[in-house]
Amino acid sequence: MSTNSIDSLLHESRRFPPTAEFSAGAIAKPEIYDEAKADRVGFWADQARDLLHWHKPFTETLDWSGAPVARWFGDGELNVAYNCLDRHVESGNGDRVAIHWEGEPGDTRSLTYAELTAEVKRAANVLAGLGIGKGDRVAIYMPVIPEAVVAMLAVARLGAVHSVVFGGFSSESLRSRIDDASAKLVITADGGWRKGKVFPLKAAVDGALAAEGSTVEHVLVVRRGENEVEWSEGRDLWWHDEMAKVAAEHVAEGFEAENPLFILYTSGTTGKPKGILHTSGGYLTQVAFTHKNVFDLHPERDVYWCTADVGWITGHSYVVYGPLANGATQVMYEGTPDTPHPGRWWELIEKYKVSIFYTAPTAIRSFMKLGREIPDGFDLSSIRVLGSVGEPINPEAWIWYRDVIGAGTAPIVDTWWQTETGGIMISALPGITTLKPGSAQVPMPGIKIDILGEDGTRVDPPQGGLLVVSEPWPSMLRGIWGDPERFRETYWSRFSAGDTWKYFAGDGAHVDSDGDIVLLGRVDDVMNVSGHRLSTQEIESALVSHPMVAEAAVVGAADEATGQAVVAFVILRSDQEGAQTVDEASTILRAHVAQQIGAIARPRQVFIVAELPKTRSGKIMRRLLQDVAEGRELGDTTTLTDTSVMQIITDKLN
Ligand code: WTA
Repeated sequence: MSTNSIDSLLHESRRFPPTAEFSAGAIAKPEIYDEAKADRVGFWADQARDLLHWHKPFTETLDWSGAPVARWFGDGELNVAYNCLDRHVESGNGDRVAIHWEGEPGDTRSLTYAELTAEVKRAANVLAGLGIGKGDRVAIYMPVIPEAVVAMLAVARLGAVHSVVFGGFSSESLRSRIDDASAKLVITADGGWRKGKVFPLKAAVDGALAAEGSTVEHVLVVRRGENEVEWSEGRDLWWHDEMAKVAAEHVAEGFEAENPLFILYTSGTTGKPKGILHTSGGYLTQVAFTHKNVFDLHPERDVYWCTADVGWITGHSYVVYGPLANGATQVMYEGTPDTPHPGRWWELIEKYKVSIFYTAPTAIRSFMKLGREIPDGFDLSSIRVLGSVGEPINPEAWIWYRDVIGAGTAPIVDTWWQTETGGIMISALPGITTLKPGSAQVPMPGIKIDILGEDGTRVDPPQGGLLVVSEPWPSMLRGIWGDPERFRETYWSRFSAGDTWKYFAGDGAHVDSDGDIVLLGRVDDVMNVSGHRLSTQEIESALVSHPMVAEAAVVGAADEATGQAVVAFVILRSDQEGAQTVDEASTILRAHVAQQIGAIARPRQVFIVAELPKTRSGKIMRRLLQDVAEGRELGDTTTLTDTSVMQIITDKLN
């Protein structure tokens, strides 16, 4: 984040207390903080009992003896899918709509809890018939259609483990995730709708499985795009054919609370994405608790909409597991916000009378740019709570969101959390907290956060430092799939000592004079582009995999629309120089990254340079490149091996 915006965050003086009316009807009451403080572990046990159905009740809440791998509710048993489905039907809410789904071309489907439960039961029978059982890994590569949710819950129902791969990732990225998790089955669709066109998904799966040695036995294909697909007899199966063949009934069995629920790959500081592992009981407890309290969910009357794709953690926790565990009615939309017109999202809010809306700052900023006339053309009066996630929200965007989308009255909850934390960790509670634009504000009840200096001691306001979680929490990651060493090293080595374990989040933060937490962005080589995590090293590896490239350095440069943007500096191999124009080379390399990783990683700019700035020990000085990419005056360059290098780079760019 640029120094300017940090200043504006730290000196924000506007305050928005909750209205008396909102507070009176709110789910969370102020006492909740004291209750959690008095007995943190007991507080989570109460939540687990109140919010979930246990096939076998737990007697032990937290076992931290195997730190940093926690066991929550370890001797209890539950079925995650049963908690999200059957029990709502059994308690008389089977006719409540679970999902109002809207396809991009305008086709719609509404599924009640009874209907969704029936589909998941059949799907569980299909998967069981294909040999999927407890512990098996299933990759899911799908558009945002109801079957994506059905597939995830069917896997969960069997005690198996899903690995959802965002549909925008390339077949190379899909293959590496399938291989890392040794998936037995892939569930996909022929294609999905995006920007008025069908994008093929099955073809990418075929590409991913083309090379020898895959562990995948079957590919289940949902018909959605109606596009032509190639068929591998014996391996590929149509979802609708298989669903028609199986029994309708399926009894959910209880699995131990620590049974793995899913793996979700996310970018780290080194090249290879990490498979973040989440388990069942603690995860479901925290996502249900936070979803209910942060969004003030009244399931009998609210209509909730989280715009995230199910391929990201926000889609897992706040489209699938949190809302469905709480019996919420929600909207799901397949396509992009501007198809076929730039008011599509607002039209959906009007149509379904959405009362709770959860999206990312990057989306809010892009709507701001288009002007308020567009949302003003729709009736948004049903909105009563707004949420933000994925990156710090700048105060201007916060105020616009509240004024234009929230009629100047809706509370905004700015929720800080990560793929690794599983659920929301820092957020206001809308009936309690006096809101402050640009600050995520307070840890959730039952969550212990500290801001530490480089030396590990607590920093006092107004100093900034590094954000750590100081006590284990129910939805914490249980590891990195297949790499316990990397798990300890990445998150636990920096500030832990003896028996004291502190989770290092990778974010810089600051506590202001009111005690509110202001997030300042990543302190490592992870970029945040439109709320999506990307690793500089992963993109550098993609660039150097191209035969034209000798060396590459990637930085995240501040970008008004996307928060950060990928900017690459590339040295071409000497035999390549002059083979193309600089513009041609840059176009080729941008496309190459998109093809290797996915369109979200495509650099905004690729600069072809003669040299890269390095320290005397040979490390690339990313800071300086970031200055160049952001058009700033260059900082101190005295530690460079050759100070003329920067001159060469800036000369070339000007
Ligand atoms: C950033 C997304 C500031 C942060 C749920 C974190 C935020 C990374 C916020 C995790 C927020 C997320 N304010 N920064 N409200 N929410 N972040 O794993 O840098 O995709 O470490 O999880 O996003 O990204 P991830």
